[in-house]
Amino acid sequence: METLILNGNNTNDIERAGQILRDGGLVAIPTETVYGLAANALDSAAVRRIYAAKGRPSDNPLIVHISDFSQLAPLVRQVPESAKKLADAFWPGPLTIILPRSALIPDGTSGGLDTVAVRFPAHPMARAVIDAAGVPLAAPSANLSGRPSPTAFAHVRADLDGRVEALLDGGDCDVGVESTVITLAKRVPTVLRPGGVTVPQLQAVLGEVLVDPAVVHQMEAGAKAASPGMKYKHYSPAAEVTIVDASPEEYVDYVNKQEECHALCFDEDVPFLKVPFVSYGSRYDGRKQAHLLFSALHYLDTIGARRVYARIPSKNGVGLAVYNRLIRAAGFSVVNPKGRFLVGLVGPSGAGKSTVADLLLQAGCAVIDCDALTRSPEVYDAACLRELREAFGDDVAPADKLDRGLLASRAFSTQQGKKRLEDITFPRILHCLREKIAEDEARGCRVIVLDAPTLFEAGLDRSCARILAVTAPVEERLARVLKRDGITEEKAALRFSAQPDASFYTSRADYVLENGPGADLSAALAPVLEELKGETGEHRL
Ligand code: TXA
Ligand code: MG
Repeated sequence: METLILNGNNTNDIERAGQILRDGGLVAIPTETVYGLAANALDSAAVRRIYAAKGRPSDNPLIVHISDFSQLAPLVRQVPESAKKLADAFWPGPLTIILPRSALIPDGTSGGLDTVAVRFPAHPMARAVIDAAGVPLAAPSANLSGRPSPTAFAHVRADLDGRVEALLDGGDCDVGVESTVITLAKRVPTVLRPGGVTVPQLQAVLGEVLVDPAVVHQMEAGAKAASPGMKYKHYSPAAEVTIVDASPEEYVDYVNKQEECHALCFDEDVPFLKVPFVSYGSRYDGRKQAHLLFSALHYLDTIGARRVYARIPSKNGVGLAVYNRLIRAAGFSVVNPKGRFLVGLVGPSGAGKSTVADLLLQAGCAVIDCDALTRSPEVYDAACLRELREAFGDDVAPADKLDRGLLASRAFSTQQGKKRLEDITFPRILHCLREKIAEDEARGCRVIVLDAPTLFEAGLDRSCARILAVTAPVEERLARVLKRDGITEEKAALRFSAQPDASFYTSRADYVLENGPGADLSAALAPVLEELKGETGEHRL
């Protein structure tokens, strides 16, 4: 078939796309998530052609795209209050809402289910095409079934040129992963597919929201899928992808030892890698990872990569969507080369880090108090004291006994002094830390927690596979610090202002424990421990 290439910036081309769709044809269109392959959602024959063009199993239902909230009501049996709230908060945007369908929706569109998935996209070209067509548009991602979703026009062209009536060029997609899919057809709203709208955002609007287990776990053979799309192998590049569940340091070590492979890494890994790589963003920037993941997978295909080792993304916030796509691209293949997890424990003063550390210890984790380590006699051995005397004067350590107060006043008076002190002590602190970790490992500890208030400042986050942040409202933290340390309010305020604010920690964390008044920390830790204890060891899920 001759495929027409249309320009999304040209109003005549938008009209043309609308006409083709009204006539029962297929047009690939840009949306803010990924490109969609559109057809008239109310026309069974047109919808059948989508399945044929994509090679998609016909029991996998399609999302119906509308260009105004008022278009929802005719498609569903009724519009519940919860749908209105979601629409108010997130439409137009990357959220798909599932509701019991009306008689207008043909079986082909809903894959024979009695529900329908509806989305009001934010992309102006998508909305203009829906308006031009004058009908709601069924649009799955515009890739061949099983292949990575298209986030650039070149991806669409590679998969669909010659198979459909027209492709509308709208440049690159912004979000980069498909919409969040939430069903309101169950007793409790449940996320079936994570996306650009995050679970905490949904909870803030609806209260209780569940996440379908298939989002992160492989479904048992034969199990019935809440969302049929979840049971198929998805998003696969031609390469065999393995997720490496490890710290940045361990990841780099592991990948550098592999032969003929490519790394699908984070920006921070780049300086350390000795194998060809493609980065999909920064470790702490889930939005960027979402934006880049599919184009990175496409790129690996175009360069003919055969074996790919991917850095594991966080499952926090939009990271859950990134993880959900990557784990499917990897066919659920995950390795943890060392069979254990180093977990960084961070949080602002008074958040309750020590309480959490105690709970982790009770649960059988090893906990290393990094603050205590920085003051330990093992760091300040004879050779260290000698260097300190040379740098800061003999009286900082007379008779092999360190005068901490004097050392601090000398070292911290200038930037240069501070640097000098760090150059002397940091390598020793790190050495002691490695020894402690090795001891805990030798004892068979699977989860080793680094209780390190300045984890990021010291660069220790590179050693951690996970980061656990504890936080509490600031007035609560202040009250605790006053009570615990018996200091004045002024002094506490000074300490707080010298620290980064809570979001510095929480935005980088894989797990966030809210420790406000009445918080049940044990309950909040349970799923964390379950994940860390359950997923250790070299394994293929
Ligand atoms: O961002 C997006 O949602 C993109 C763009 C083009 O809008 N579309 C998209 O569609 O990702 P598709 O067909 O690739 O994915 C739709 C997902 C599938 O996993 C499907 O199983 C699920 O939504 N789904 C659709 N209707 C459903 C229903 N009634 N019940 C449960 N799951 C449904
Ligand atoms: Mg898809």
